[in-house]
Amino acid sequence: MSRYLDLRKDIDNLKIEEAAKILKSGGLVVFPTETVYGIGANGLNAEAVEKIYIAKGRKQDNPLILHIADKEMLEKIVENIMPIEEKLMEAFWPGPFTIILKRKTCVPDIVTGGLDTVGVRMPSGEIAQKLIKEVASPIAAPSANISGKPSGTTVEDIFEELKDKVDCIIDGGKTQVGLESTVVRVIDGIPNILRPGKITPEQIKEIAGNVKIDKHILEQTKIEKDEKVLSPGMKYRHYAPDSKCVLVYSRNEKDMIKKIKDIAKTQCRVTIISCRENAEYYKEVTNSIINIGSKDDLNEISKNIFSALREVDKIMPNLVIIEGVKQEGIGLAIMNRLIRACGNNYIEI
Ligand code: TXA
Ligand code: MG
Repeated sequence: MSRYLDLRKDIDNLKIEEAAKILKSGGLVVFPTETVYGIGANGLNAEAVEKIYIAKGRKQDNPLILHIADKEMLEKIVENIMPIEEKLMEAFWPGPFTIILKRKTCVPDIVTGGLDTVGVRMPSGEIAQKLIKEVASPIAAPSANISGKPSGTTVEDIFEELKDKVDCIIDGGKTQVGLESTVVRVIDGIPNILRPGKITPEQIKEIAGNVKIDKHILEQTKIEKDEKVLSPGMKYRHYAPDSKCVLVYSRNEKDMIKKIKDIAKTQCRVTIISCRENAEYYKEVTNSIINIGSKDDLNEISKNIFSALREVDKIMPNLVIIEGVKQEGIGLAIMNRLIRACGNNYIEI
C-alpha cells in the first residue's frame, strides 16, 4: 500500500519534499498535472523508469514524456532545437503541450523506447512544477492508469488500480483539463499533431503558420501490423471501458438524438453518455444516463470524459452509447479519445 499525500486544500512543501525524496531514491509517485495524473519516476534513472512500465503493464516500445520545470532542464536532455520549435515552446509552456525533440545520450533508452527522439513537456500545474524542481531532474511520466484504461483525472478513479503498484500517491483534486497534452513533432518545418489535446490545431497554426494533423487521429484508419507510425501510442487500444461502446454524431442534433434512441431500443441495459441538455430526451429509453457537461462548454466535457468512461465499468451495461461533439477546438481531442474508447465503432450521420 502506497503513501497517500493529501494536497487538495493546500500545497504543503514538506509533503512535496517527501514525494521528491521517494523519486530521488528510485521510487514511483503518482502526481497531478493540469492535464491528467501521471505515474512519475526520475527520468534519468533507467531502473526507476523501468518500474513504470511494470506498474502500468505498458509495452516498452511506447515511449514516455519527460516533464521539466525550466529551460535549463531542457538543454540537458535535447539538442538541435529549431527556431520554430523554440517558438512553440515559448507560446505553450508551461502548459498541456508536448514536443518531440532530438534526445541527448543521457536520456535512457527505456524512456524513449529506443527512439532517437524524446517527448518533453513543461506542465503548468503547481504541484507538478514544485515536485520537478524539488527532484531537480526531469520526471518521466505516462498517464496514471493501467494500460488500455482511461487516464486518471481524480485519485478516487485510480486509487484501487494503482495503490499497490506505486510508492506514493499525491492527491491534488480533479485535474483542470482532463485530457492528455497535445503531442507535436515538427517535420520539414511543419508541426504535425500526433495526439490532439487542449492546445488546438488553430492555436498551433497561429504560432507556426502551418499545421498538419496526423491521419491516424480521426480517420478510422486501421494501423497495419508492421506499419510505422510517428507515435507508438497510436497503435494501442486505449481509454476503453469493458462494455461494448458506440459513438454517434450528427451535425443535426435531432438526428443524433433519434439515432441514439433507436439504438438504445434494440438492447436492454443500455447506458447513455450525453450532454446535460439532452439527458432528458433519453429518459424514455434508459434510466442509466451519465451527464458529461454542457454542450456549449467543451472544456467541461473534456474534464469529465475519463471519469464517465470509468463509471461505465462500475455499471457494466450491455451497451454504452456516447454522444459525439463537433470536431472543433478541443472537440478534436474529445472525439479522438471517444473514437478510440469505442474501438472505432463510430456512426456519423
Ligand atoms: O498530458 C500528458 O501528456 C500526460 C501527463 C501525465 O503529462 N502524459 C501522458 O503520457 O499522456 P502517455 O505516456 O500516456 O502518452 C504519451 C504519448 C504516447 O502516445 C507516446 O507514444 C507518445 O506520447 N510519445 C512519447 N514519446 C514519443 C516520441 N519520442 N515519439 C513519438 N511519440 C512519443
Ligand atoms: Mg496514456
